[in-house]
Amino acid sequence: MYAVFRSIGAYIPEKILTNSDLEQMVDTTDEWIFKRTGIKERHIAADNETTSDLGVRAAELAIERAGINSSDIDMLICATISPDYFCMPSTATIIATKLGLDKVTSFDLSAACTGFVYALSVARAFIESGMKKNVLIVGAEKLSAITDYTDRGTCILFGDGAGAAVISASDDKTHAIIDIHTGSDGAYADLLMSPNGGSGSLHDDPLKESACFMKMKGNETFKVAVRTLTSDVVAILKENNISSSTIDHFIPHQANYRIIKAVGDALNMEERQVVLTVEKYGNTSGASIPMAINDIYESGRLQHGDLMLLDAFGGGLTWGSALVPFGGKGK
Ligand code: UT7
Repeated sequence: MYAVFRSIGAYIPEKILTNSDLEQMVDTTDEWIFKRTGIKERHIAADNETTSDLGVRAAELAIERAGINSSDIDMLICATISPDYFCMPSTATIIATKLGLDKVTSFDLSAACTGFVYALSVARAFIESGMKKNVLIVGAEKLSAITDYTDRGTCILFGDGAGAAVISASDDKTHAIIDIHTGSDGAYADLLMSPNGGSGSLHDDPLKESACFMKMKGNETFKVAVRTLTSDVVAILKENNISSSTIDHFIPHQANYRIIKAVGDALNMEERQVVLTVEKYGNTSGASIPMAINDIYESGRLQHGDLMLLDAFGGGLTWGSALVPFGGKGK
């Protein structure tokens, strides 16, 4: 059996938080944010919207576009660092119930901004082993719930949203997922973490509202990100004997335009190949790659058989890349 990336969907909350809005909240400027990150605005979920609500909206679209019934889904993975509830139940089980999926295998996956690529690799493994036939992978984040809006080093970066994809079994290799790399190094854990709120935060009140706020050593994270991503994408292309010029869509995690540009330049990618959504969505962690894929699907750029190169990097530290033909129908 081969694993085929069959459909994509996304949901972007209505409310927009602009750089000018942030100027009123912390000591920053639109000019600084845009120059250092490429971000102009990000979307923020409504108070009564949860991460699972965002995930459900994206998943419904992905299922519809896959041309299957929701009852055909036999596994659901949700990649998130902003779950509805921090310990249990998993956001994946909540999404499954809201979708009316009965007794499906469902679980959350914690790999921060690399979560979608990790989820893709798990889905592929379950399908290729013959254990599952249609795996729904969801990247959903309400990062506004874990963002400290008094910290200008992080609050300017993050936004909310969700993306979802159906990965299906096929006996035809033509458009099967080609390769996926995943890696991690906990020695860099302190670069990007939520230091409070878990059993590791022995001296803090784990119940206080700010317990899960993200903290980041931005500049150090930036340097490791460029170094790690560049060597990882160069390696996956080389191992598969694929030239960067044959990539139809380079779809990096949308953390910072300067990181994307540095990695794209190292691969000699042309502008037309690089998918950019960071300007309008900011960094949506596990949701950023499927939201970007959905963007090119919605605009008609993503066609059946197009070759996508995904790459991601995030807290953990974790990283990953994937060579994925689009096995669905273009819009
Ligand atoms: O998605 C997961 C992975 N995450 C990332 O990959 C994020 C990686 N990091 C970044 O994107 C960048 O490091 C940031 C955008 C977070 C920061 O950009 P930077 O160019 O690395 O700035 P910096 O942290 O080196 O700070 C430069 C200066 C400092 O002032 P001094 O010490 O030079 O006087 C900061 O205090 O900019 C200051 N600064 C700000 N100024 C205005 C930091 N944040 C802001 C701000 N507005 N929001």
